[in-house]
Amino acid sequence: MASDIIKMDVLNESEIDEPLDAQIREFLCRLFPNWESVFKTRRAWHDAPPVFTAIARDERGDIAGHVAVVERTITTNWNFRYLVASVQGVSVDEPYRKTGLSVRLLNVALDEARKRKYPFAILFCREPLVHFYERNGWKLPDDSMIMWRDRELPIHMQSNCPMYRELTDEPFPEGPIDVHNPL
Ligand SMILES: CC(C)(COP(=O)(O)OP(=O)(O)OC[C@H]1O[C@@H](n2cnc3c(N)ncnc32)[C@H](O)[C@@H]1OP(=O)(O)O)[C@@H](O)C(=O)NCCC(=O)NCCS
Repeated sequence: MASDIIKMDVLNESEIDEPLDAQIREFLCRLFPNWESVFKTRRAWHDAPPVFTAIARDERGDIAGHVAVVERTITTNWNFRYLVASVQGVSVDEPYRKTGLSVRLLNVALDEARKRKYPFAILFCREPLVHFYERNGWKLPDDSMIMWRDRELPIHMQSNCPMYRELTDEPFPEGPIDVHNPL
């Protein structure tokens, strides 16, 4: 079975050399054709390089699946701030779909985020994928969660459904949430 031959790694940025960077970007361009303009030059959106990347490769070293985690700051209505693990670029190549690989990759990324003491993980997805993430323990916040370019300019997200996961016993804050690059 396709998933039996998969090798899974969690890589820090320092472990991703130029050829691997190019290989991952080529994979992301193929899996996210609408975002080719971004992935042609970098592996993440909005000027935040990943803090780590979970990657699945087959026995030839070809990429089968990918999840990146970048760091963001969330600010609550009460002005509490948290550094959170922002999950992005969740992608599994066609032959490996419906094999559980995406869930394994997400779990590896969330375990790593827990080890690194992030209290919460967040992501932004498109509406058709909400059920997929809900089935895997992600939740929709009750209030708005808005990504900001700077303190004044909200980013229009094509993936406009924000979701979160609690990584410790601490409950996700109530009320509207602002999301920034680390402040
Ligand atoms: C999302 C993804 C990793 C899930 O892989 P998987 O676990 O093997 O599962 P599937 O491909 O069967 O997709 C899971 C569900 O999401 C839906 N889905 C997946 N990609 C979708 C897309 N581009 N648009 C709409 N729905 C999509 C599937 O229809 C499926 O729904 P169902 O389980 O209710 O039938 C994989 O489909 C993928 O790589 N897609 C392209 C990249 C992408 O859009 N990533 C999401 C970033 S938030």
